[in-house]
Amino acid sequence: MSLNDFIKQLDDLVESASKRFEDAINQTDHQVLEETRVEFLGAKSGKLKEAQKGLGKVAKEDKPAAGKRFNEVKTRLEELFQAAADVITGGGKKGKAEALDVTLPGIRPRLGHVHPITQTIDELKDIMGRLGFTAVEGPEIEDDWHNFEALNIPLEHPARDPLDNFYLNIAAASHGGGNQLLRSQTSTVQIRVMEESQPPIRIVSLGRVYRPDEIDATHYAMFHQIEGLLVDTNVTMADLKYVLRLFASSYLGGDIEIRFRPSFFPFTEPSVEVDMRWQDTWLEFGGAGMVDPNVLKAVGYDPEIVTGFAFGLGVERLCMRRHGINDIRYLYDSNTKFLAQF
Ligand code: PHE
Repeated sequence: MSLNDFIKQLDDLVESASKRFEDAINQTDHQVLEETRVEFLGAKSGKLKEAQKGLGKVAKEDKPAAGKRFNEVKTRLEELFQAAADVITGGGKKGKAEALDVTLPGIRPRLGHVHPITQTIDELKDIMGRLGFTAVEGPEIEDDWHNFEALNIPLEHPARDPLDNFYLNIAAASHGGGNQLLRSQTSTVQIRVMEESQPPIRIVSLGRVYRPDEIDATHYAMFHQIEGLLVDTNVTMADLKYVLRLFASSYLGGDIEIRFRPSFFPFTEPSVEVDMRWQDTWLEFGGAGMVDPNVLKAVGYDPEIVTGFAFGLGVERLCMRRHGINDIRYLYDSNTKFLAQF
């Protein structure tokens, strides 16, 4: 190889490296920076390493000049990398006046935003707030009493099976030291609210629940529910249906039909599954019903005086429906390319 060819090759290398490091700076992306470093300065098969092979091929008398040039290029590439790294990590040698070129485009910081599930929660809270429901929260670590007992789910009930729940290996602080578990439903909050206050009650609670389900496109071991509870005198199923219809049309838009299918929950009587008609299909959103008299008794209310309704709907399901997301796992993959769309 002639000295000229060798030098030309090195010049090309500097030119393409400065373009690529510039790209990395513009994207403010550590990943791209690292890939670019490996591409040019990688110890095994970086382009600089590759160019070094040419050094062995130039004529003997040209070797000193070629070697000198090679070392300059090596230093130059290392400087390019260092300069890009300084900019991307935001610190470094920015103080040097000559490094500041105000005519260059600025470096746009990548802004984060609220996760689609949190956006949905905020919106649902808002909708229910306009209907007069106050948002409350309950703990995610619950005891037997709030997750089962007070909800009319006795010890022998299959819903309490260890295989269907995340029991924790710690003793409960309250209610006779029963088991503790990650709550499997937000209905726990119904009990907590009724234990602490007197009717009339009108609350919603939105939060995480946990079930050891097989994970697939529609199931995840953690998901969110919106729980609603209204207790007052003369509350009927018609009130429940009216509230759910308003809720659905506020979120999904339009004059939505609501369908109740008979079902069973230990803590409501009668119990229903709630379907909403949307874009020509029936969508199932969760359960609901009139609060079971046993539940009212468990919290010290008189079922002869007050009645109530409760519902529990899946937040992911609502969010996925609205945005046309067809796999729940997308929501929890932390893939910013996916999340940036919302
Ligand atoms: N807690 C029930 C579930 O998780 C849903 C529900 C809530 C049903 C309130 C009725 C009343 O499946």
